[in-house]
Amino acid sequence: MCGIVGYVGKHKVKDILLDGLQELEYRGYDSAGIAVLQKEDFSFYKAVGKLENLIEKTADFNPEGFAIGIGHTRWATHGKPTELNAHPHLGESSFVVHNGIIENYQEIKNALVKEGKHFLSQTDTEVIVHLFEKHLKNEATPFDAFKKMLSQLKGAYAILLATKSLPDTIFFAKNGSPMIIGVTEENEKIFASSDAPLIGNANHVLYLNDGEYGYVSPDELRLFDNENKEVPLQFSTLPASKLSAQKEGFRFFMEKEIYEQSSVISDTFLGRIQDEGIAFEELDPSLFEGINEIKLCACGTSYHAALTSSYLFERYAKIRSSVEIASELRYKEPLLTKDTLFVVISQSGETADTLETLKMAKKAGLKTLVICNVDNSSMVRLADATILTRAGIEKGVASTKAFATQMSVLWMLSLFLAKARETLSTEEIQQQIQALRGVPNSVKVTDELHEKIRRLSKRYLHGHGFFFIGRDVFYPLALEGALKLKEITYLHAEGYPSGEMKHGPIAMADPDLFTIALLPKNMLYEKAKSNVEELSARDSTICAISPLEFDKADDFIKTADRDHYMLEFFEMMVIVQLLAMEISIRLGNDVDMPRNLAKSVTVE
Ligand code: G6P
Repeated sequence: MCGIVGYVGKHKVKDILLDGLQELEYRGYDSAGIAVLQKEDFSFYKAVGKLENLIEKTADFNPEGFAIGIGHTRWATHGKPTELNAHPHLGESSFVVHNGIIENYQEIKNALVKEGKHFLSQTDTEVIVHLFEKHLKNEATPFDAFKKMLSQLKGAYAILLATKSLPDTIFFAKNGSPMIIGVTEENEKIFASSDAPLIGNANHVLYLNDGEYGYVSPDELRLFDNENKEVPLQFSTLPASKLSAQKEGFRFFMEKEIYEQSSVISDTFLGRIQDEGIAFEELDPSLFEGINEIKLCACGTSYHAALTSSYLFERYAKIRSSVEIASELRYKEPLLTKDTLFVVISQSGETADTLETLKMAKKAGLKTLVICNVDNSSMVRLADATILTRAGIEKGVASTKAFATQMSVLWMLSLFLAKARETLSTEEIQQQIQALRGVPNSVKVTDELHEKIRRLSKRYLHGHGFFFIGRDVFYPLALEGALKLKEITYLHAEGYPSGEMKHGPIAMADPDLFTIALLPKNMLYEKAKSNVEELSARDSTICAISPLEFDKADDFIKTADRDHYMLEFFEMMVIVQLLAMEISIRLGNDVDMPRNLAKSVTVE
């Protein structure tokens, strides 16, 4: 994963690099670094931990005038998060930053070591700079050396390389990891891994495709494809004002994002919920022609949205639905048949495993749809069709509002298909639409609810584990509740189908096993309640979340009396998010940037 920035121009190179990295910090934050080349002299700085450490370290570094610079914020894959392993990596007279994984790095490294090259880091990235410098000695130009080096790399990468041999130029390459080049009104060039650092700085941007590479200098921007043919530059425009998310008085971005769910769901519904049915203007009806099955694929929280939706697609649209974890699908040699619509779900649109499955599906000739929060992301550009969730920038690493909008889209999509396939009557669709309209209200956080969860959280700081349990769509919600808790509290939690506890996990029941029981009124209430009673009889500590009083619970969070199980789903979603956040705050954790995680995982 990791975030990359680069700059060629005469303005404040340090500020542009560090501001850019700040926008990209969600991609990884275990170390960061910059290298600036001015008048054939390199200055470079690296710091372990969050970006603020690098900012502090560079306080007295204030280069003026023309410079080129590259920067990186890291999420470690090869080698621990140390300063030596932080990017940029240096050779004798060049620096490189890289996002992705060089799969054949060991082979290249062994060969270079045999030739006497000394390596400083444990990273895969360092081979890039040494291999480049090796070719620099024999090739006619630095660009030829860069090309030769690229031809030997296998894997995923976005690379920026700066060298004293051509001190006004940055070489770049993209294959499988995102890279965008922005050009400002004064013809400065800025590189970044996503739009965010470019908004407000450059209004013309170039989204690179896999296999493309080239170089930029003050006067030139040249781009080549994987067949070494020069590619004409096709710029897109970005909005001019920076929509950088601010905390707006909340303690954490996650908290702000939980509170925002009502309004972003309303945005996501806008123009799509109509009196007579659901409208997705962005979908061509031919997308569903000849389709008998939906295969959904995603990672993390997005996977839980996929799993939930499979219940809705089968229940309402009567279409066979299967769900796959992207990292599993990639290597299981799946049977992909052309009567299957392949749907990927991703907040970022950049998650490497999900992106690869999308490529696989396309290669197998399947029609593809992406449900995504980031326009112009790699998945959006690749899929045949896109439905954008309108959650806005999500900064908290633990996903909340993105999940809420994914679920809103997926519920709508199941009804859209139900109508097209005539599997629900007009009246049933009307009832569903009526329920959908209630979603923004069901996710509103009241002071009373938040205070109740804040108080309860102090009783859940220890113990030997949590089981979140539920039935039907409340089972994937249980998985999501457990994932939220794991991500930000570092406590052990599992999501389990309520009816499955008796087949093993109930053996663990004792007062230090916390059961968070999702007990909606409108979905298998009696069945789920019996399962919770079995746990209560074995002395597990029970926290029941339900509109109906439950006397076997130690703690009880009362939800509103709603008449559709999906509205109960959305309300309980907010409760499990708040519970995880309040426990995390009490434990003194970094809620927005939990340890070891990153917002966008662009490596396998
Ligand atoms: C990372 C994030 C998770 C996220 C997952 C999938 O692991 O930490 O919060 O759910 O990636 O991300 P995506 O952008 O594809 O939804």
